[in-house]
Amino acid sequence: MINKGIILAGGKGTRLSPITKSTNKQLLPIYDKPLFFYPLSILMLADIRNILLIINKGQKKNFINVVGDGRHLGLKISYEEQLKPSGIPEAFKIGKKFIGNSNVSLILGDNFFYGQSLTELLQTTKVFKKGCTVFLKGVSKPENYGVAKIKDKKIVEIIEKPKKFISDKAITGLYFFDNHVVQIAHKLKPSKRKETEIVDVIKNYKKRNCLNFIELGRGAIWSDAGKIDDFTNISNFVTSVEKVQGIKIACLDEIAYQKKWITKKQILKNIKFYGECPYSNYLRKIINNENSKN
Ligand code: DAU
Repeated sequence: MINKGIILAGGKGTRLSPITKSTNKQLLPIYDKPLFFYPLSILMLADIRNILLIINKGQKKNFINVVGDGRHLGLKISYEEQLKPSGIPEAFKIGKKFIGNSNVSLILGDNFFYGQSLTELLQTTKVFKKGCTVFLKGVSKPENYGVAKIKDKKIVEIIEKPKKFISDKAITGLYFFDNHVVQIAHKLKPSKRKETEIVDVIKNYKKRNCLNFIELGRGAIWSDAGKIDDFTNISNFVTSVEKVQGIKIACLDEIAYQKKWITKKQILKNIKFYGECPYSNYLRKIINNENSKN
């Protein structure tokens, strides 16, 4: 079982400078919502309600302005700052107290997932006991990601940003770990790029024979938003789906309402908070049952 999740939403966002000089990348918009709503919605769809948001120093107020302590969404959101981006596994050191003795899911704050079978796959949290589960997705440029080579239904090799082709299966930024991850993170040494690497954590699980993977099929979409073009591409995708189908992707209030974590009364309060905007109009439709597609 996994009921705690960490969203790693720090980093310098250098590739998006000068936009990121004054704000966290994860607060920037993907069409009609801040980027971090998308990974947050994934944790919610996995029924994870206890969430730690790791953000850059000085940014807490900005995130609080948007989602606060999460109570209005039926969540418990807490915050920690990362002083400098010294590696993804730092999340388990910063989050040590939050994790306690539990298993934990980590999702990178710039990762976008969408697809019909996804919600079902995310329910793996219910049966997760030990080890590590990664989510793989075939990509056209594996050299930009952590990559896993599969043979006989097992991961046989893992390389971060391989210079030579080993496989097209990218390791996406969504991971399920047992509690052992905290210990592993504390023992890691920085790589050549002076960061600790998430692939080194995953390799540790592989070595101990407790690494599992789930492949996202052709019907699932995954992208990270590292570059400005990613923002444009993902935004265009979200715009098309939302406009054509009349639904919203990553509408946090809708997910919470459908999961019965919040009531209609709470949605009305949330609408007041958001003010007059298409997001609020959509929520009105949801509670009036005019739109129950998902
Ligand atoms: O998106 C999936 C990929 O993410 C994986 O395939 C790779 O194995 C993994 O290393 C990572 O690759 P990136 O090159 O995208 O990592 P990046 O340094 O850009 O960090 C990913 C996000 O995590 C980014 O939004 C910033 C945040 N971050 C990163 C580091 C290193 C932090 O908040 N703190 C950090 O210390």
